[in-house]
Amino acid sequence: MTKQRNIDPAALRYSTEVEPRRIDEVRALATAAGNFSPAEIAIAAELVEERLARGLASGYEFVFLDDAAGTLLGYTCYGLIDGTDGRYDLYWIVVDPRRQGLGLGVELLRRTEQAIRERGGHKVYVETSSRDDYLRTRRFYELSGYLLEARLEGFYADGDAKCIFVRAV
Ligand SMILES: CC(C)(COP(=O)(O)OP(=O)(O)OC[C@H]1O[C@@H](n2cnc3c(N)ncnc32)[C@H](O)[C@@H]1OP(=O)(O)O)[C@@H](O)C(=O)NCCC(=O)NCCS
Repeated sequence: MTKQRNIDPAALRYSTEVEPRRIDEVRALATAAGNFSPAEIAIAAELVEERLARGLASGYEFVFLDDAAGTLLGYTCYGLIDGTDGRYDLYWIVVDPRRQGLGLGVELLRRTEQAIRERGGHKVYVETSSRDDYLRTRRFYELSGYLLEARLEGFYADGDAKCIFVRAV
C-alpha cells in the first residue's frame, strides 16, 4: 500500500488524455521542481506539444495526476523505444515539490508501469544524473525496484555521469 500522508486518495485524479493546457502546466511543474535546466524545461513542454501535434505517432504517452480542483500535482512521460521488443523509456517523472515524499511519485510510476505492461512492454529504462541534486531521485528509482544497469562517466558534463536504471515490468 502506497503511503498517502496528508493526501486524501479520493481527491487524486489520474488521467492519460493530453490536452493543450498541459503544455503550460508541465512547463510550470518542471520549473518548480528546481533541478532542471531551462533547456530541459523547454524539452518537457515540447514533448507535450509534439504529442498534441502528432498524436500517438509522436511516441510520447503520459500519465497526469491532478488534485480535485484540477491542479497538476505530477506527471510521467514515457514511450516505446523504436526498434526494440517492448523496451520503454521513462522520459520524465515530476511531482510538485510541495507534494513530494508523500508517495505520489511511487503511485505515478506504478500506474505508468501498468500502462506499459498493457501495451506489451517488458522493460522500463530511465536515465538520470549522478549529481548530488539527483541523489533523492536515484534513491526513488532504487526504492521503486529499479537497478543501476550502467553509468556513463562524464556523459552530461565533466564529473556528471549518466546513470541508466532498468526494471522488468
Ligand atoms: C523523484 C520524484 C518524482 C519522486 O516523487 P515523490 O512523490 O517525491 O516520491 P514518493 O513520495 O513516491 O517516494 C519518496 C521516496 O523517494 C525518495 N525521494 C525522491 N525524491 C524525494 C523528495 N523530493 N522528497 C522526499 N523523498 C524523495 C525518497 O527516498 C523517498 O523514500 P522514503 O519515503 O522511504 O524516504 C520527485 O521527488 C520529483 O519530482 N523530483 C524532482 C524531479 C526529478 O528529479 N525527476 C526525475 C528526473 S526526470
